[in-house]
Amino acid sequence: MSKVLTVYFTRTENSRKIAEEISIKLKSDIDEIIDKKKWKGVIGFISGGFNSVFEKATKVTYKKNPADYDVVIIVSPVWATKMPPAVRTYVEENIDKFNNYAFIVNNAGGNIKKAVSNFKKVLPKSIAEYGTSKNDIDSDSCQKCFEDFADAVRRILEKRKTNAK
Ligand SMILES: Cc1cc2nc3c(=O)[nH]c(=O)nc-3n(C[C@H](O)[C@H](O)[C@H](O)COP(=O)(O)O)c2cc1C
Repeated sequence: MSKVLTVYFTRTENSRKIAEEISIKLKSDIDEIIDKKKWKGVIGFISGGFNSVFEKATKVTYKKNPADYDVVIIVSPVWATKMPPAVRTYVEENIDKFNNYAFIVNNAGGNIKKAVSNFKKVLPKSIAEYGTSKNDIDSDSCQKCFEDFADAVRRILEKRKTNAK
C-alpha cells in the first residue's frame, strides 16, 4: 500500500474541498500550506495576481514532511494562470524531497489548459495532472475525473514499485 500525502493551499475553500475528496479516494494524509500573507480583499487579490505573475516567493508553514510519502498530491488554485506564491514556495522548498508527485488545479473558468501547462513547468515530472473550473467541482463529470485521477496515480505507483523490484 502506497503512502500518499495530499497537500493544498486555499484562499476561498475550493481547493480544500477538492483536496478532501482526493484524500478520501486515495486514503491519504492531508496537509495545508498556510501563507503568512492573507491576500484579503481587493488589494489582496491584485497583489496576489502580481506576485503570482512575477513568480514571487512568500513565507509558508505546513506540518508534514513530504519525504515520508510515496507520492504527494498538490491541490492548488490558479492565480493569474500561474501557481500562487504559497504553492510555488512549498514546491521550491520540497521538490527534492518528493518521491513522486501529481497535481490538481482549479480556477474560475479561465484557460485551464494554459494553467496546467504553467504548473507543469514548475512540476515537470508530475505523474498525473488535472485542471477544472471551481464551478464544476460538484458535477458528475468532475467527480468521474477525480476518480480517474486517483486511479491513474494508483496505477502509476504500482507500476513504478513493480519495476523497482
Ligand atoms: C490572485 C488571484 C488570481 C486569480 N487568477 C485567476 C485566473 O487567472 N484565471 C481564473 O480562471 N481564475 C483565477 N482566479 C480564481 C481562482 O483560481 C478560483 O476562484 C479558485 O477556485 C480559488 O481556489 P481557492 O478557493 O482554493 O482559493 C484567481 C484568484 C485569485 C485570488
